Parts: sequence; C-alpha cells; structure tokens
Amino acid sequence: MIREGKALIVTDGVFYNPRMKFCRDLDMLIFSKLDAKNYLDSLAASGVRGIRAALEAEYQPIFNDRDKRAVEVIRRNLSLNGVEAEVYNTDAAVLMRERNFDHVDVDPFGSPVEFIDSACYSAKKYLSVTATDTAALCGSATLAGLRKYSAFAVKTDVYPEIGVRMLIGFIAREATRYEKHVRVVASWSKEHYYRVHIKLKKSASLSGKVYEKIGYIFYCPRCLAKYVSLMDGSTRETCNCKERLFMLGPLWTGELKDANLLESLLNDTQLSNPLKSFLTRIVQEADSPLAYNIQQLASRLGLRAPKTEEVIYFLQEIGYEASGTHYCGYCIKTSAGVEEVRRAITELVRGYKRS
Ligand SMILES: C[S@@+](CC[C@H](N)C(=O)[O-])C[C@H]1O[C@@H](n2cnc3c(N)ncnc32)[C@H](O)[C@@H]1O
Ligand SMILES: [Zn+2]
Repeated sequence: MIREGKALIVTDGVFYNPRMKFCRDLDMLIFSKLDAKNYLDSLAASGVRGIRAALEAEYQPIFNDRDKRAVEVIRRNLSLNGVEAEVYNTDAAVLMRERNFDHVDVDPFGSPVEFIDSACYSAKKYLSVTATDTAALCGSATLAGLRKYSAFAVKTDVYPEIGVRMLIGFIAREATRYEKHVRVVASWSKEHYYRVHIKLKKSASLSGKVYEKIGYIFYCPRCLAKYVSLMDGSTRETCNCKERLFMLGPLWTGELKDANLLESLLNDTQLSNPLKSFLTRIVQEADSPLAYNIQQLASRLGLRAPKTEEVIYFLQEIGYEASGTHYCGYCIKTSAGVEEVRRAITELVRGYKRS
C-alpha cells in the first residue's frame, strides 16, 4: 500500500509512477484554487490523481481507464479512501465526445495528441495535459513533431521553452475549433515530461483572439538569436548575422502562467521546500517568449559564462525584463535581443578580468 498526499493506494500491477508524485502534489495545490467541481481523470490507471483531487481539492472526480484491471483497482482505491465516484471502462476519446466535464485531465503514456481534440470538446472550464513525448515537441525529433503536432521545431539552446510552447500552441489551436478561448493557468517542464493547465472559455469572439498569441519563433542556429512573429503573414528569412533562420512553430507566444494564482499558492505554510522553490522559480519567470542559454552564448564568444544572476541583473539595470527559468540554471528569459545579452556577457566577463 502506498501513501501519497491524503490518499492510500494499492496498485496491484496497474501503472503507478512514484516519480510523478511531485507533479501531482503541485496539481493538487493548483486544483484547490480552481472553480471546478466535476473532474474527469480520463486515463486514470490506479486513480491516484482523481482520488487526491477529491480528498485535497474538494473535487467530484469521475474515472476512466480502458484497462479492466485498472478499473478494478480504481474501485478498490475508492473504497479504501471513502470516495464515491463513477468509474468508466471505455476509450477516453469516446467518453470525452459523449460527456462534458468542468475539468478534464489527460495523463497518457507518451503523447497526448490523440486525446486533445475530444478533450477540448469535452472540457468546459479547465484542461490539464501531460506529455512525455518531449523529443517530438522540443525539436529533437523534428519529423515526429510534424506528424503529431503539425508544427516544426529543431533543437535549440532552450529546448524545454520551445517544447512547452509547442504543446500549448497545439492545444490552443484545437480549442479554437470549438470556439473556446484559452488562458494558461500553469505550465512546466521537468525531468521527462511537460505538464500544462489551461483555462477554457466558450466564446466565438474571444476564441479568435487566441491567434494574437500563436505564432513563430525565428531561431538562428549560429548566434542563437530569436525573433517572435505572430500568424499574421509576416516572415523573416535571415538573421542580423546573415545566417538563414529556422521558423519554429506554430507555437504559443503568450504567457505561460497565471502569476497571481500561482503566487497565492506560496502563502501555504505547509508547502514543502522543493515545491516552494520550484513554484517560486515559475512565478518569477519573465513572460517574454525569448529565452537564451548563457553557457552556450558565452562559449560562442570564446568566454567563460558569467553567473546567470549577474546577467539577469545587468539586463534589468539597462531597462529590460529579465529572469531565470525553472528548467535550466544557466538559461534566462528576457525582453532583450541577443545583441544585448551578448553585450551583458562580454562586459561582465571583462569586468572580472579588471578586478
Ligand atoms: C500513464 S497511465 C495514467 C497514470 C495516472 N493518471 C496516474 O497519475 O498515475 C495511462 C493509462 O491510460 C490507459 N489508457 C491508454 N489508452 C487509453 C484510452 N484510449 N482510453 C482509456 N484509457 C487508456 C492505460 O490503461 C493506463 O492505465
Ligand atoms: Zn544569427
């Protein structure tokens, strides 16, 4: 028997990944702030997430798994925890076509792509998605990204940034087909997976506005420059350094979090230190879609990398928005262009030499 959060779980050979406890812990904190009641744990396995949602976020969960053994285990876990809920044993995509839920969770093995259309159709208020096919999303597996997400990427110096934006961009494009507007509640990249929580609102007029935040990042493989453009027909072929640019996307160029909501979670005095520091890094991240890897930029300049915090401070001092990132200790997000970041690195390293 496994204790996780307030739940007690038996697995009996059904899928359960203890490494995802951190993710579920953070999910429960977020769920407790959302205005939703019924919650579909569409690929539930042992049911751990939905049971925790009932016990820790006052949700009314509904469970589903295609595997009969999983359904038996879910029923045992429900009675073990004194939770009453409906349990389905069907294909998640079919169920989501048949019923609407306030909040839908899609937590598959590998890619969520086959469930996104029906999940966008089904979810009334919130949609949570896990993806472990990070190679397809971040540009390590370009062809898989095209096949699954109809989007192009190559691996960049800040690949988790691109991957999460590709995933949200795909979900947002699917949602607008059902006249749903999207806002990102939270999103992160950790270890082998990406996790996103999205707020949906049915509105034909608002859903078109989603395209004000979907576009492309033009990326220079030579000097690591990045330029953002929306899906407005504009394009850019060459970098200021004369290299041909890669056009990555379509992807989400908007904000990756609801900073106020996440900040309010930091007031919880029960918060464990790892959760607190992870959440703090997410809250403090700049909203700019431009991210740079300081080590890689410095090595291209033939310099040793200065401290990430010093680059951030330097950029802030000359008037730019700048922050660290939650996914890489030597990456930054900033409104500054690559020339300014290079200047920051060069001046900081020269400063060290003088002192
Ligand atoms: C990664 S596990 C889910 C883990 C679970 N959410 C957790 O937090 O522990 C994926 C589950 O999806 C189920 N599954 C796979 N394809 C499905 C489908 N098309 N419809 C319903 N369930 C499916 C599998 O049987 C498996 O139990
Ligand atoms: Zn360039």
